[in-house]
Amino acid sequence: DEDELRFAAGALADAERAVAMTGAGVSTASGIPDFRGPDGVWTRYDAEDFHISRFEADPEGFWDDRIALVEELYGDGREPNRAHEALAALEREGHIEGVITQNVDGLHQAAGSDRVVELHGNGERVACVDCGATDGLDAARADDLPPRCRRCGGLLKPDVVLFGEQLPDYAWYQAHAMAQRADAVLVVGSSLSVEPAASLPREAAARGATLVVVNRERTALSGRAEYDFRADATEALPRIRDALADY
Ligand code: APR
Ligand code: ZN
Repeated sequence: DEDELRFAAGALADAERAVAMTGAGVSTASGIPDFRGPDGVWTRYDAEDFHISRFEADPEGFWDDRIALVEELYGDGREPNRAHEALAALEREGHIEGVITQNVDGLHQAAGSDRVVELHGNGERVACVDCGATDGLDAARADDLPPRCRRCGGLLKPDVVLFGEQLPDYAWYQAHAMAQRADAVLVVGSSLSVEPAASLPREAAARGATLVVVNRERTALSGRAEYDFRADATEALPRIRDALADY
């Protein structure tokens, strides 16, 4: 309710170093389905088809499914929504250090967030498994699948973390450092069901950081959050931003 939201904003205002962590729930209002909500991607696709072992065993079949998924997720482009814009404003107005995101849609950057750590990579990019060169996704839209690196002919992979893959070292290092320093974490639109991403807010809370959760459904950390809002991110985040403007 309103008071609860004002208290949560107060806790964020009192924090020295607050950080936001987001998941697919911040992008559903932009037309990108989440993964585990009632109509999530994993209710229509099999996550196993996107495991790194499937990519290695059957790159052509993997890319067939990946391109179908990308078409559904992103279609002819998606715009940031009021939740992304509110987070960019919270950073601009000095209330959060930045955003650690599990999303690969680039919408935080499109909304003007400056400090964005993409834990799971970026879906607009592809990377060569042999020489590491990256290219735009359209390099993989060629009709001859699996797409190959222009430089060395190696296999191209979406530059996102597939199930079974390690997170990119530098992104993990940055996110872990941000979460370690944080004395408040604002978790928005994530079920917090995927590791090691979920360990960031969990360890911050274990260290005494204030946890504020904004999510339609209950999350894995809702029981530990000082403030746990069952709310729509596009409603709650602009209101948190407005409440913070008074501090
Ligand atoms: N406002 C608030 N919460 C929302 C909204 C919304 N508009 N829309 C959806 N949600 C909530 C859902 O209720 C759900 O609990 O967002 C949460 C999204 O959780 P997931 O679908 O599990 O997405 P996420 O937590 O980002 O998944 C993490 O899993 O599949 C992998 O790599 C993929 O990055 C992804 C990771
Ligand atoms: Zn290459």
